[in-house]
Amino acid sequence: MSGIIRVPGDKSISHRSLILASLADGESCIRGILDSEDVRATAEVLRSLGAAIPPLADEMRVKGAGIRGLRPPRRALDCANSGTTTRLLAGVVAAHPFSARFEGDASLSRRPMKRVAEPLTYMGARFEFEHGDGLPMTVHGVDLRSIDWDTHASSAQVKSSILLAGLISEVEVRVTEKSPSRDHTERMLRAMGADVEIDGNQVCLRPARRLNAIEIDVPADPSSAAFFVALASLAGGGELTLTDVCLNPTRTGFLGAMTRMGAQVDTTARRISGGEEIGSLRVRAAPLRSTRITEAEVPSLIDELPLLACVAAGARVDLEITGAAELRVKESDRISAVVQNLRAVGADAEELPDGLRVHASRRELSGTIDPRGDHRIAMAFGILSAASGNRITVSNPDCVAVSYPRFWEDLRRVAA
Ligand code: S3P
Repeated sequence: MSGIIRVPGDKSISHRSLILASLADGESCIRGILDSEDVRATAEVLRSLGAAIPPLADEMRVKGAGIRGLRPPRRALDCANSGTTTRLLAGVVAAHPFSARFEGDASLSRRPMKRVAEPLTYMGARFEFEHGDGLPMTVHGVDLRSIDWDTHASSAQVKSSILLAGLISEVEVRVTEKSPSRDHTERMLRAMGADVEIDGNQVCLRPARRLNAIEIDVPADPSSAAFFVALASLAGGGELTLTDVCLNPTRTGFLGAMTRMGAQVDTTARRISGGEEIGSLRVRAAPLRSTRITEAEVPSLIDELPLLACVAAGARVDLEITGAAELRVKESDRISAVVQNLRAVGADAEELPDGLRVHASRRELSGTIDPRGDHRIAMAFGILSAASGNRITVSNPDCVAVSYPRFWEDLRRVAA
């Protein structure tokens, strides 16, 4: 195991760069955007709303339409597999004087949308659902009123949806969370001249008449880098360097948990770029020990929990995750998907209502796993497979295209 790898651009920042550039005055320049199925879904929905989004490219320019410049769509908005596309753009549509129908694939259609429908309805928008609170959903937008909303949860998608709705309606919005979720929207809004105040787990956006265009260098996605941090830690030896990784403190929970488990990760070349902390990670193989993840830590590593479970199984240590019921409503029920697949390859794991346990076991791991179409499950088991001595086959490996299309090539290159 050796090499230097620059994983693709951050998915959360990529979605936001397209949305906020479309709402800005003037031409924004986005470099290093993630070209994946999820980000393509956001680009396509924005195009349907009249935004001038060119094909995704390493350097792209987006001419903004202004904060009220989007137009009614002529067809339904297809959000494919992407929760971020749906929830953030529901906030955008809710603040425009038109209606739009949101659709998605089977996985997205099962995911709860009440969490954005509730605050946006309180602000004055109207939502129509056909089955429960999943897609398809039709959003009828209006001039919204101000809101002071406690989410009683920790969700950057909900927070961002409300912030975008307030921005476009030019009203003050305040959102309080249980603990702070990722804050890329707030950082980008500030960099574009908006008045955003953050106080612990509360964020307040004051009305602005316009957003300035922006130049963004999208850093490497820490959720994608996490797969290689895990691989290098589990390897028999060697060293891997991951460059330009976004080290925003709301995203570094996985590194914290791995370090607690004994992983050897050094951070170098720390700098600030476009309002985000970034740096390089040098990871060396190390013996790992057991750990526990509880609710307070969950928002900072929510997307990395399936991987952490695979790391524990690969390192043959105990892991307990609690306070993470949210995993059940991600791209798949990630608690069930992780536990059933770990068992399918011979590991000892059990489901908890709000988490899971992995028990140290010496059994050899081998077999076929079904990622249930979930990119992060496929990649987590891909890492477990590549870690020495594990013969695991991932069925339907192409689902990684949602967030990391060249994952298997990168894995082959560094694990060769
Ligand atoms: C995201 C927020 C998180 C995360 C998702 C991306 C975002 O979801 O799991 O992958 O870009 O805002 P929640 O807001 O549902 O926690």
